[in-house]
Amino acid sequence: MRDLNPECYLFRQVKMPVLRSLSRVAQQVLQAPACGCQPITVAVRNISFSPRQVTSDASFHSVSFSETDHPKVLITGGLGQLGVGLAKLLRRRFGNNNVILSDIRKPPSHVFHSGPFIYSDILDYKNLREIVVNNRITWLVHYSALLSAVGEANVALARAVNITGLHNILDIAAEHGLRLFVPSTIGAFGPTSPRNPTPDLCVQRPRTIYGVSKVHAELMGEYYHHRYGLDFRCLRYPGIISADSQPGGGTTDYAVQIFHDAVKTGKFECNLRSDTRLPMMYIEDCLRATLEVMEAPADTLSMRTYNINAMSFTPAELAGEVQRQLPDLQVTYSLDQVRQDIADSWPMNPTMRTRRDWGWKHEYDLPELVQTMLAFIGSEARVAQAS
Ligand SMILES: NC(=O)c1ccc[n+]([C@@H]2O[C@H](COP(=O)([O-])OP(=O)(O)OC[C@H]3O[C@@H](n4cnc5c(N)ncnc54)[C@H](O)[C@@H]3O)[C@@H](O)[C@H]2O)c1
Repeated sequence: MRDLNPECYLFRQVKMPVLRSLSRVAQQVLQAPACGCQPITVAVRNISFSPRQVTSDASFHSVSFSETDHPKVLITGGLGQLGVGLAKLLRRRFGNNNVILSDIRKPPSHVFHSGPFIYSDILDYKNLREIVVNNRITWLVHYSALLSAVGEANVALARAVNITGLHNILDIAAEHGLRLFVPSTIGAFGPTSPRNPTPDLCVQRPRTIYGVSKVHAELMGEYYHHRYGLDFRCLRYPGIISADSQPGGGTTDYAVQIFHDAVKTGKFECNLRSDTRLPMMYIEDCLRATLEVMEAPADTLSMRTYNINAMSFTPAELAGEVQRQLPDLQVTYSLDQVRQDIADSWPMNPTMRTRRDWGWKHEYDLPELVQTMLAFIGSEARVAQAS
C-alpha cells in the first residue's frame, strides 16, 4: 500500500535526486572552513548561486535596472488578497513580462489580460521546477497558503499546502539559486510570546496550524540560508487591509469587512471583542515593504526574518475612526470564539529591526487608511449604482 501513497511516489521519483544533490553540497560545506552564513561558492550541478544573488548591489527606490538586471519573478498563490497587487507593483518596476502570477484557481479576465499567468500547484514539485526552468525565474515570492481561520477548519490541507508545499518551494529555490520571499505572520507568535511589545526574536509557540507552519517556514528558510546559502527573505506581515481584493480567511478580516459594510449597509457586526488590539497595515505599505526587503543589499540584512508593522488598533478604535466619516454607522459585536482565541494569542505591537536595517517607514496611519478605504469602496459603490 505504501507504493500507492502519492507523497511517497513523489518523494522517490522527484525529490530524491534533489535531496541527493543537497546532501552532496552538505558534504562539501562540511569539508569547507567554518564560514557562518556565507553562501556556497563551489560549482554544483543542481545547486548554483549566481553572483547576482550573492552580492546584491540593489538599493531601495533609486535603483534603475538595466534590461539584463531585471529579476524574473514567479508569484505563487497569486490570486489571493495580496498577489495581484504585488504583481502590479513589480511589473511597473521590472516590466510586464518579467513577473508571472500563478495559482490553482482560474483568474478573472482583468487579471488574465494584465500580464503572464500560469497554473501552478505548489504540491506538484515537477511542475514547479518546469516553470522555474522554462521561464528562467530568479526571484520567487511564495504567497500560497491557508490562512489562520480557514487553516483551523481544514488542518490536513493546511499542513499539506503550508508545510509540504513550502518544502517543494525551498528545494526548488535552493536548486536554482533563487532569491526567495516567504511571508510569515504575527500568527507565528503565541500565547507565551511577549505581546506588547513583541521583539523580532522571542518565544514562538503558536497554537494554530497556520502559526506552526509559519514558524516552520521561518526556521527552514533560515536553515537553508545558513546551510546551503539560499537567499531567503521573510517578513512577518500584520493584518493586511485592502479595498480591491478580498481577505482569504484570516483573523484580521474584520478590519476589511467593516469598510464594505459601512458603505453598503451602514451596519457592521464585528466577530472580535471591541478591545482586541492587533497590528495592521495598508496593502500599499505591505507590498512596498516586500519589494524593499527583496531589493535590500544582502549585507544590510542582519536577520532573515523580520517583524513589520504600521499601526495597532482595536475594533472600537477603527469603528470610531470610520464613524468620524460615516457618523450613522452602527457597530455591534458577536464573537467568533475561534478567531477571538487566535487574536488573544497574537502580538499587539511588534517591534521592528527593519527600521534600523533597511530604513523601513510606513506611509499609512489609521486616519489615512480609513479615508483611502472609504474613498475607494465609496467610488466603487457609486459606479455600481450608476450602471
Ligand atoms: N492577508 C493577510 O492579512 C496576511 C497576513 C499575514 C501573512 N500573510 C501571508 O501572505 C501570503 C498571501 O496572503 P493572502 O492574503 O494573499 O492569502 P489568500 O488566502 O488570499 O491567498 C492564498 C492563495 O493561495 C492559493 N493556493 C492554495 N493552495 C494552493 C496550492 N496548492 N498551490 C498553489 N496555490 C495555492 C489560493 O488559491 C489563494 O489564491 C500568505 O502566505 C499569508 O500567510 C497574509
